[in-house]
Amino acid sequence: MVTSLERRIADSLDSRASRSILRRVDQPPSAEDGAPLIDFSSNDYLSLSKNETLRERFLEKLSRTELILGSGGSRLLDGNTTAHFALETRLKDFFNGPAALLFNSGFDANVALFSTLPQPGDIIIIDSLIHASVWDGCRASRAREQVWTFEHNSMDSLERRLKEALSEYEGVRAGETTVFVGIETLYSMDGDFAPLREIVDLVEKTLPRGNGFIIADEAHATGLYGPRGRGLVASHGLEDRIPLRLHTFGKALASNGAVVICSPLIRSYLCNYARSLIFTTALSHSNVISIGCSFDLLEDGTSEKLSKQVRSLCMTFVKKMVQITAGVPMALLSIPRTACLVVQLPDHPASPIIPLLTTEPRPLASYLQKKGYLARPITWPTVPKGQDRVRICIHAGNTEMEVIGLVDAIAQWATDRLGRQSSASNARL
Ligand SMILES: Cc1ncc(COP(=O)(O)O)c(C=O)c1O
Repeated sequence: MVTSLERRIADSLDSRASRSILRRVDQPPSAEDGAPLIDFSSNDYLSLSKNETLRERFLEKLSRTELILGSGGSRLLDGNTTAHFALETRLKDFFNGPAALLFNSGFDANVALFSTLPQPGDIIIIDSLIHASVWDGCRASRAREQVWTFEHNSMDSLERRLKEALSEYEGVRAGETTVFVGIETLYSMDGDFAPLREIVDLVEKTLPRGNGFIIADEAHATGLYGPRGRGLVASHGLEDRIPLRLHTFGKALASNGAVVICSPLIRSYLCNYARSLIFTTALSHSNVISIGCSFDLLEDGTSEKLSKQVRSLCMTFVKKMVQITAGVPMALLSIPRTACLVVQLPDHPASPIIPLLTTEPRPLASYLQKKGYLARPITWPTVPKGQDRVRICIHAGNTEMEVIGLVDAIAQWATDRLGRQSSASNARL
């Protein structure tokens, strides 16, 4: 018998399938000949997951550490081991922060931050493209009635929002109501950078009583930018002006987990109220060891060398993409204007995330996969309607030849596609 629940769930999935937006967790894709695909998709930007030194250090530390399995409980109970505490202290120092608090994931951390820190009556203003975990935190927040967005990376839009808050709320003018501003330093889907200095200047200027509170999510920037990979806030020298930073370990650091860099007061508040910290088993010992080994490679300068390699490959990719997209209809294939800045402005940081904007993300991604390149389609509702794409991620471990091969395959797809279009219109004549 099909229950009413099963019928309703199946209807929702059918509806998604009919709109081509059904998400699947299936067997990972492989090339036609079964060979592994060349990674142009994962967040393993520094290719640390395949780094031999990291692997050897990790295995060596595992072999000489007594406690490697499990963690024993929540950080508030038996999961608060010396190893967890030592890692936190190390990260506090590394990121030049007043205090640090580990979370099991960036997702858990964002949910905790946005659901606990804003007090009743406070206002949350977030970038319209912010990560889903921030949205989930906002929905659970006591300030959920005052969650506003500003247009992605638009200073005019943020300024309008801040001025609206000032004009509508006496508490904001009096410095009593806190205005939280949530941003990512490098956006995960568009691969563009937040104008950090402008944001900080604007918030400080508009809210001179110090009641602006910026939360910067460095998930995609950690390890790649700033001195020793400390992130973009550090590379702009803004550590003292941004009160809270989130760094995650699951992307460029080839591990799992996250750390919040904040004041001791906020750390203590999170320990008391953050449900995604209190009611979960702490990171396993082996995970803590693996995070520590990744930070060894940041501290000894290895990651800076790898970041340079990423930058060089990004430049090659963007230069070639600019060439091949000239003359191709934008709807079929283009890269955003922001992606081109790295080849136009000498000091502009290189983003390893470059979206190929196309109305045909699935055919393009599956063509690339058939040719041996792993790239994935990203469609609504993960990105806004009309902004479908294939997201390319460049890694330190990719080679120049692979990048050139990828661009050639993209070009070939566009040529075939245009050829098909023109022969179809000739047939109609
Ligand atoms: C911007 C951003 N923040 C937070 C997260 C969540 O981090 P984690 O993968 O550690 O849960 C992600 C992951 O996709 C992300 O892209």
